[in-house]
Amino acid sequence: MSDTKDVGRTSFLPAGAPMSPNHVVFFDTTLRDGEQSPGCSMTTQEKLTMAHALEDLGVDIIEAGFAMASEGDFAAISTITQAIRKPRIASLARARKEDIEMAARALQFADRARIHVFLASSDLHLEYKLKIGREEALDLAGESVRLARSLADDVEFSPEDSTRSDRDFLVEMVRIAVEAGATTINMPDTVGYSTPEEYGRMFREVRERVPAIDEKGVILSSHCHDDLGLAVANSLAAIEAGARQVECTINGIGERAGNAALEEIAAALYVRGDRYGVSTAIKLQNLYPTSEVLGQIITFKPSPNKAIVGANAFAHESGIHQHGMLANPLCYEIMTPGLVGVSKTHLVLGKHSGRAALRHRLEQLGFTLTREELQQIYYRFVALADRKKNIYDTDLVGLLPEHIRENRREPVAELD
Ligand code: KIV
Ligand code: ZN
Repeated sequence: MSDTKDVGRTSFLPAGAPMSPNHVVFFDTTLRDGEQSPGCSMTTQEKLTMAHALEDLGVDIIEAGFAMASEGDFAAISTITQAIRKPRIASLARARKEDIEMAARALQFADRARIHVFLASSDLHLEYKLKIGREEALDLAGESVRLARSLADDVEFSPEDSTRSDRDFLVEMVRIAVEAGATTINMPDTVGYSTPEEYGRMFREVRERVPAIDEKGVILSSHCHDDLGLAVANSLAAIEAGARQVECTINGIGERAGNAALEEIAAALYVRGDRYGVSTAIKLQNLYPTSEVLGQIITFKPSPNKAIVGANAFAHESGIHQHGMLANPLCYEIMTPGLVGVSKTHLVLGKHSGRAALRHRLEQLGFTLTREELQQIYYRFVALADRKKNIYDTDLVGLLPEHIRENRREPVAELD
């Protein structure tokens, strides 16, 4: 893996270390791992729109694509490097000379660039996918990181399928990559197999057994997939175990069941700051708007019950909850919707709702009812809600007797 052409090394600036030992770097891979899933492919223009949204959100690194994968990916990476200034831009590359050089070329206009080299470390992948032995893999790891470092000051190395790799072999591969100059070591749970306790333990063990990680200030990174629904929990466990970079995607899009959702990790680190005690550069109020931008670009929106950005994340239907919410939102919300950029809480009227919420909505629409009138309307409302899945304001108004409708005040809310 020698004879490397000059592919623009001078355009790279030194690697960016985290601002403080407690700063967690957000590495967004929506445009690479996220895009690698059905219904999520994006044009260069769409990737650029998304990159601007990610920059506004405050992510530290944008993995803009996999330069060798296609001309489109190469073009998107190159375009993004010329338009985006704040976040560092990364390209993925296999542990191959041509991939690494292609990544460097795609990144040549970046102010701050990263080459992200990956190579399988599990016997399963080595034997069946790459058809190479362990020794060859270790050589490749060292050579590819050295080559990448000759082209960029910032090089991430990922032993793919880390969580299903023989631990001694993983440690050895990480040691070689660190010696070769990797500035970030990412240990992916490629198939979403790990549990939080195991994932955290792997980080602690590798860090302990490769002292050069701390000696050289190498950042450890998590990268989790959601096959068992544990991607966010595993990412948080890695942070507790000392990882200071987290790889994630908006709305959790990604291969199969997806990647760890950026919005969930960012919100958890903030809301449970008492536990995690780390800082990030994420502007939380941009979480929902960024999710919306992505939803308009790809073919699907997050499911309604998705944490933070789903349509129901701040909606309450049951009477007991609505009553509590009206008394004090803290009763049933651990964060205000405004914190993450959602305009307001929704008290959804349905068959589980109570009188308090019905009166509240009718008041907002400009209708004042006596206690007896509310009681009568409430029975009719519950009967309707038993038959109908969604109750709209117009349905409510239809339940009111003529004299109440005629005495309508100035509403404080529009009819939905
Ligand atoms: O899931 C994975 O292992 C990856 C690597 C390329 C980092 O996406
Ligand atoms: Zn992945």
